[in-house]
Amino acid sequence: MSVVDAGALDDFANGGTQQVTLDGHVVVVVRIGDDVYVLDDRCSHEDFSLARGEVDEESCTIECARHGAQFSLVDGAALTLPATHPVRHYEAVVRDGRVEVSLA
Ligand code: FES
Repeated sequence: MSVVDAGALDDFANGGTQQVTLDGHVVVVVRIGDDVYVLDDRCSHEDFSLARGEVDEESCTIECARHGAQFSLVDGAALTLPATHPVRHYEAVVRDGRVEVSLA
């Protein structure tokens, strides 16, 4: 497993989404406060960027902008139809103000 630096925590807007490419993996990075969540930037329903979706900070979910499926930011689980499969989730930690993501 490799750990890659995704950038400074301060570079990510709170409650926003940002597409980042890490070692060839196109992911969406979501910051909620001091926590950071990273999923593959591809809805499991159809090939659509989750970075264009909407984050719900309270429930820690992201809603796909195309057909409205919701995914858990914590583990990538599909929570609502039309998505039935999870989105790949990556562990992320903040260390010394930097976002570190573990890639398998
Ligand atoms: S492409 Fe995301 S819900 Fe359909």
